[in-house]
Amino acid sequence: MPEPVLTAPDTSLYEQLAAGTAPPIAAEPVSVVIFGGAGDLAHRKLLPALYNLHLDGLLPPRVAITGVGRKSMTDDDYRQFARTGVESFSRRPIDAHAWPTFAANLFWASASIDGSLASLGARLDVVEHERGLPGDRLYYLAVPPSLFVPTVQQLDRARFIVKGTARPTARIVVEKPIGHDLESARAINDAIAQVFDEHQVYRIDHYLGKETVQNILVLRFANSIFEPLFNQKYIDHVQVTVAEAEGVGNRAGYYESAGALRDMVQNHLLQLLCLVATEPPRSLDADVIRDEKLEVLQSLRPLQGEDVDTSTVRGRYEAGFVMGQPVPGYREEPGVDPGSRTETFVALRLWIDNWRWAGVPFFLRTGKRLPKRASEISVHLKEVPPILFNRNPGARLDPNILSLRIQPDEGFALGISSKIPGPRVRVYPVQMDFHYGSTFGATSPEAYERLLLDVMAGDQTLFMRRDQVEAAWHWVMPILDRWASDSTASIPTYAAGEWGPPEADRLVRTMGREWKAP
Ligand code: BG6
Repeated sequence: MPEPVLTAPDTSLYEQLAAGTAPPIAAEPVSVVIFGGAGDLAHRKLLPALYNLHLDGLLPPRVAITGVGRKSMTDDDYRQFARTGVESFSRRPIDAHAWPTFAANLFWASASIDGSLASLGARLDVVEHERGLPGDRLYYLAVPPSLFVPTVQQLDRARFIVKGTARPTARIVVEKPIGHDLESARAINDAIAQVFDEHQVYRIDHYLGKETVQNILVLRFANSIFEPLFNQKYIDHVQVTVAEAEGVGNRAGYYESAGALRDMVQNHLLQLLCLVATEPPRSLDADVIRDEKLEVLQSLRPLQGEDVDTSTVRGRYEAGFVMGQPVPGYREEPGVDPGSRTETFVALRLWIDNWRWAGVPFFLRTGKRLPKRASEISVHLKEVPPILFNRNPGARLDPNILSLRIQPDEGFALGISSKIPGPRVRVYPVQMDFHYGSTFGATSPEAYERLLLDVMAGDQTLFMRRDQVEAAWHWVMPILDRWASDSTASIPTYAAGEWGPPEADRLVRTMGREWKAP
């Protein structure tokens, strides 16, 4: 992680970096090679992110971005492909002056990983030679997971990788999902480890690139007000909600064999949990932070057998209305098996068995076709004693809640009880509220901007280390196994536009709590 800097209230670190007033993130000249370069991820996320880095002056001074795929295209075709991606998906529009200098960095190479990568090597050599690039390559696997292992093996066969040097001459970026279960995750990680050292491997969990997610550690450890309260003495419980209004869209092929637990919980939600629950790391070094997050995963109480039934709820959306629009049920979506048993919603109750969090329940939930897109972590403090202002059992005061809004209304709020002005003592819950939009102005960088910048700078802090990925799988496996063990068990349903099935409410109510609507 770069050294923290003090930011003036009206400038972000990004703006300071762009203005050169903050320590620059060292980005050496690099050749970025995107396998799956003409795919959806490259079109929607990677190329727009690289373009925005270019706009901010954050790309290295010398860079080549080569898309690789089976399609036969010219460099100009690829530049046009990138342009449509930027036009449709970039957070900032095309700038007539900046575009040509960005586009000049883009190249296309036709290659298939079924064949030899020799011609790709020759093409990259030419591109890199012409641009004076020293040969540091960043391989981005924007391909289906089934192609991770073959691609890595081909890179090895083509002798593209120098393993084990202190300064990486090659880095590899791997997208989630890393595996379908613990075993397949290990197989992918083993195959990668045959070719790359761990310090050359960047496993993406794009939630870690979100500004608001990075802010969790800042909020906790750059302020003295919160950290003394973050433990079982003061915290009643913690909720993590990641809600999507969208349905499965055109991704049924992937989602049918994934489901919400694999797609969202194993990675994004457990990563959020790690950040909110971690011990203070002793430094901002990537591995120090990742060690602490691993500790959280290793402290999760394992769910076994019937614990799974009492601590987890899955659900599937049926036809309903989302934001006033009628939408079909999951089983009616294109490409979905009408008898599908894939879950589109998960709620969990879990415990972190360490000194800090002993006895504090954590509730996690995520789902598609919920009432709105909203992700939030809420930390619920214990009630004040039932005396003074809280003594009426029929009108208890709202406990303080710290809500970290991950998206879309980025910010955080603290609910506080306050006296309503007037002659009587009446207490009312008010909010201290911070909004990124109104405080910092400009839109925050997209997660992929930050993540790509960090890969180029060689900073692994925001990426998943092998042991973390496997620890997360290790914890979710008993849930997957239990669910798979009974193919006749009914799966609760919810109408699209509701907050999941009623069973999810019961999960928290049996503990005397309620879900907080984000
Ligand atoms: C992806 C999941 O990892 O995250 C998708 O595969 C999900 O199913 C997406 O929609 C959500 O990301 P975001 O950034 O839109 O919250």
